[in-house]
Amino acid sequence: MDLLRDDDIDPAPLTGKRVAILGYGNQGRAQALNLKDSGVDVVVGLRGGSGSTIEAESAGLQTALVENAVASAGLVIMLAPDETHEALYREIEPQLREGAALGFSHGLSVRFGFVRPRADLDVFMVAPKGPGTALRSLYQQGKGMIALWAVEQDATGNARPLALAYGRAIGCGRAGLSASSFAEEAEADLFNEQAIVWGGVPELLIAGFETLVAGGVSPEVAYLECVGELHLIAELIESRGIAGMREAISNTAELGALLGGTRIVDDTVRQRMADVLREVRAGRFAEELSGEKASGYERLEKARAEARSTPLEQARRRLEGDGGS
Ligand SMILES: NC(=O)c1ccc[n+]([C@@H]2O[C@H](COP(=O)([O-])OP(=O)(O)OC[C@H]3O[C@@H](n4cnc5c(N)ncnc54)[C@H](OP(=O)(O)O)[C@@H]3O)[C@@H](O)[C@H]2O)c1
Repeated sequence: MDLLRDDDIDPAPLTGKRVAILGYGNQGRAQALNLKDSGVDVVVGLRGGSGSTIEAESAGLQTALVENAVASAGLVIMLAPDETHEALYREIEPQLREGAALGFSHGLSVRFGFVRPRADLDVFMVAPKGPGTALRSLYQQGKGMIALWAVEQDATGNARPLALAYGRAIGCGRAGLSASSFAEEAEADLFNEQAIVWGGVPELLIAGFETLVAGGVSPEVAYLECVGELHLIAELIESRGIAGMREAISNTAELGALLGGTRIVDDTVRQRMADVLREVRAGRFAEELSGEKASGYERLEKARAEARSTPLEQARRRLEGDGGS
């Protein structure tokens, strides 16, 4: 795998090109500010009445209504939520200049057909592998966040150098830009969200907490054991890898991990992971996401409300001294 870094990338394709960032949320804010600090001509495109206008302008960014930002730009980056891309693209297509470029930070909306870009457009992805808050703070520390990049459509012959120059300008070239495709990035990212870091790990923590509490352990101790140590292993794996993490812990913990880990994550878990990947590839999750938006995010709102009042959250608040009951 080739990891391209700043020195491998020509910044020139962005020279004199205005970039419109659509959306000023997690990624939009970070990417717009990083571009500005890299000397790129950037405008943030927002809906009329957007509460983000004041915030973006007080951070020194130029803002415009979505349609005006798009019409003024040679490169338009879609940083509104994925489930809005279908309608947003339909709205902006008439304003997109002939031969302009359209960029994404996630492969989902193109991979699953929410957006079918016009044939004259260059279409690329630079997908930072982490949240916008970290993308911004790493940039400010002179560091960067690794990203996957891909070209889906090369109408002008310039899509590849433009994608790389964009990745460099948001700081990802400092850590490395790794070649992928919209499909690979979207499928692997959705798989991870559901089965591993964002879906599997929290459910494992909750199941562990509930098992200990049901076994007579106090919620506070159960929380400290099952949830409170997560950042320690994350930091160790980040800095030393899984093999190095195992060498850094006590023999007791290492032997326990060796005996217990494969009992919990056995072949049935691997089978269900394969099911998740198959369903992602078949577009089942993309349908769920569209349905969720259509329902006004009913399921997400309900789950958020329930999660705030679980015994696990109450234990966390008591440990933090803010009175969980
Ligand atoms: N979250 C991450 O850190 C992360 C990491 C990697 C990749 N990504 C990708 O980055 C993209 C953006 O995700 P995000 O989490 O940053 O989004 P987000 O924070 O939810 O985006 C919110 C912004 O989008 C605007 N917006 C919402 N609906 C819109 C619409 N219909 N038309 C125009 N603007 C609209 C909002 O406008 P208002 O100001 O008017 O409310 C707000 O400024 C997605 O493709 C996502 O997969 C995200």
